[in-house]
Amino acid sequence: MKLLVTGGAGFIGSAFVRMALAENRAALVVNLDKLTYAGNLENLASVAGDSRYRFAHADICDAPRVNEVLAGVQPDAIVHFAAESHVDRSILSPEPVFQTNLRGTFTLLEAARLNRVPRFLHVSTDEVYGSIEPPDEAGEEYPLKASSPYSASKAGSDLLALSYFVTYRLPVTVTRASNNYGPYQFPEKLIPLMLTNAFEGLPLPVYGDGRQIRDRLSLEDPCRALVSVLSLGRPGEIYNIGGNCSLPNLEVVRRILRATGQPDSLVRTVADRPGHDRRYALSSAKLQRETGWSPQVSFDGGLARTIDWYRQNQEWVRRVKSGEYRNYYELNYGGR
Ligand code: NAD
Ligand code: TYD
Repeated sequence: MKLLVTGGAGFIGSAFVRMALAENRAALVVNLDKLTYAGNLENLASVAGDSRYRFAHADICDAPRVNEVLAGVQPDAIVHFAAESHVDRSILSPEPVFQTNLRGTFTLLEAARLNRVPRFLHVSTDEVYGSIEPPDEAGEEYPLKASSPYSASKAGSDLLALSYFVTYRLPVTVTRASNNYGPYQFPEKLIPLMLTNAFEGLPLPVYGDGRQIRDRLSLEDPCRALVSVLSLGRPGEIYNIGGNCSLPNLEVVRRILRATGQPDSLVRTVADRPGHDRRYALSSAKLQRETGWSPQVSFDGGLARTIDWYRQNQEWVRRVKSGEYRNYYELNYGGR
């Protein structure tokens, strides 16, 4: 199988590329990535010398370039991760979010249609369902209720992708996963931000009362789910990927403090995120029924391994947290 992966230099995309090659699931993996602040080829250093791996530096909004890459590769499947992926950045600066997540997805779908790509896996998020009142869990038919520019752009791109199945019979499948965590995650997201701050004894900025609930997935679990959906998922269908692991943010932060040996006094309650969704909750019954997938990694086990990885990769952290990251940190947290 020849795979074209977009956003393969990011957090989940790079894990998927590493897994696809390690498990011999592809004869060729082409990683098409613009290398934004979140894209980092260091994440793929372990496969850079593999003859089955290629990198194509490209913006998914650039139709001629995307068509050129697709025509050259003629992939059996596209796995589409590339996105502006962070809610807080989407609030500070929504334009690039709509550009990449909507225009970029549209450009890629058009290129896939013109090049008759036999499989298109669109990687999306549980955030499209918005905040969910307990005890509900969102199944795939749950109404869309996006709260942030990020989630609105993902909901829009999901609908666009599915319309290409209905209208053009492009074999699109959509996945919607809950919050992933693990090695190589950019430290703008909750878990790597908190644990890298904890290492340095810096304040841990918790939004509002910290009782917002997210479902957590250790990276290997969603990557395995994507592999299952790629082979067993039905075109035109949506599959939720949840970890059965609902925890309030403050509890996650406290566990990070305990695991890093730092005191609870590092917690700083700061002004809440505007439009902050209170609770996400997913049912992955459909995925489990149709593919046999289920999450395998416990939160404490996954968190311990993640903390170990960040501890052992301080140079990666130092490089990623220098430069642009400092401006972002000041912009998002400075006046909070
Ligand atoms: P990330 O921010 O770590 O990586 C995004 C990658 O996309 C980067 O390599 C970046 O360079 C690339 N990219 C951005 N704009 C591009 C463009 N215009 N053209 C080409 N490449 C571009 O993101 P992530 O956390 O790995 O998320 C990957 C996907 O999974 C996203 O679509 C996201 O919405 C979805 N998702 C993420 C989570 C999560 O918890 N992180 C959960 C559910 C779904
Ligand atoms: P995040 O990792 O940004 O993922 P998402 O918004 O996509 O769920 O945030 C996870 C939760 O943690 C969310 O409820 C917001 C909260 N949060 C904080 O309290 N402080 C922070 O500094 C960050 C980045 C997030």
